[in-house]
Amino acid sequence: MSQISSRAVRIDQNGGPEQLKIVQVTVGDPGPGEIRIRHKAVGLNFIDVYQRTGMYQFPMPLQLGMEASGIVEAVGEGVTHLKAGDRAAYASQPPGSYCDVRVMPAKCVCKLPDAISFETGAAMMLKGLTAQYLLKKSQPQGGLKPGDFVLFHAAAGGVGLIACQWAKAMGLRLIGTAGSDAKCELAKQLGAEFAINYTKEDFLLRVKEITGGKGVKVVYDSVGKDTWDKSLDCLAPFGLMCSFGAASGPVAPFSPSILGPKGSIYVTRQTIFTHIATRESTQAMADDLFDAVVSGKVNIRIGQRYPLEQVQQAHRDLEARKTTGCTILTL
Ligand SMILES: NC(=O)c1ccc[n+]([C@@H]2O[C@H](COP(=O)([O-])OP(=O)(O)OC[C@H]3O[C@@H](n4cnc5c(N)ncnc54)[C@H](OP(=O)(O)O)[C@@H]3O)[C@@H](O)[C@H]2O)c1
Repeated sequence: MSQISSRAVRIDQNGGPEQLKIVQVTVGDPGPGEIRIRHKAVGLNFIDVYQRTGMYQFPMPLQLGMEASGIVEAVGEGVTHLKAGDRAAYASQPPGSYCDVRVMPAKCVCKLPDAISFETGAAMMLKGLTAQYLLKKSQPQGGLKPGDFVLFHAAAGGVGLIACQWAKAMGLRLIGTAGSDAKCELAKQLGAEFAINYTKEDFLLRVKEITGGKGVKVVYDSVGKDTWDKSLDCLAPFGLMCSFGAASGPVAPFSPSILGPKGSIYVTRQTIFTHIATRESTQAMADDLFDAVVSGKVNIRIGQRYPLEQVQQAHRDLEARKTTGCTILTL
């Protein structure tokens, strides 16, 4: 039985970034359906903030982190898609990727193509698979076609910059929103056809102007409370409100009766965990993402790198809207 020592970032209670503590843990051998992986880099995601603050509840103590890349060290019984020595990357439950080594379920861990670096692999799995299912699997009535307008909030963030590039490659006309002029510029450089600074401009008015009053086919909204009401009004008749996060706080309860007068619009709340529930669906989505990255359609922009020891600062910056693109923790 192996007894491997690893650094790990844990919280003992919900709260601010000061709750994040580096501790020493012991890691054993993988059981059936599991692997042991030695990380090369770890991805930071806004969901880590929700888990830290307690917006999403987990038993304590909690080792945070949903995304990383590394080398498989050992595989448990029944694992056939990976072997010791493989380069790999993942977005996966349960949390626990903020560490050097861990044992975890193998199901959502994918072999990383040689053409993709460990840092890119760590940055792109949760955010890239999310952009994949949003653009390709969360479809409005009649689907999405080249030339369709979509609105993507927080377009200069981790998921946002991947979505800007992928949408452009699909021929979609993406209108992005972001919290500063510099972020808007970045979103445009990476594929947004229009970008609106929603801290100074009324994004509803601008969307109506850009679309000649018609509205967009889909709104992808991960901001939540602050953008919800106006986003519904940005939709064309039968449009899709695709909610997938709440960076500004949860959306207030509402009655479905408001959706009819707004144009018989549809509302969905999506989570990646439904999409990656099986090995087959995870691999199919990952293959599509790997292809987009290796072909150069999508460039994974790592905007910030923090050593694991600076994880508190990484959380502070992410919450303070100071980051752009993806953020990784280096080991
Ligand atoms: N449901 C899913 O499957 C799924 C999967 C992955 C991510 N997500 C969600 O997608 C969003 C993006 O994730 P990410 O990891 O790539 O993060 P991110 O976009 O890099 O960071 C969040 C961004 O949200 C914007 N924001 C607006 N209001 C905010 C506020 N009050 N506080 C903090 N940020 C605010 C900020 O951009 P501006 O300054 O430009 O406004 C900020 O940079 C998050 O809401 C996350 O929970 C959902």
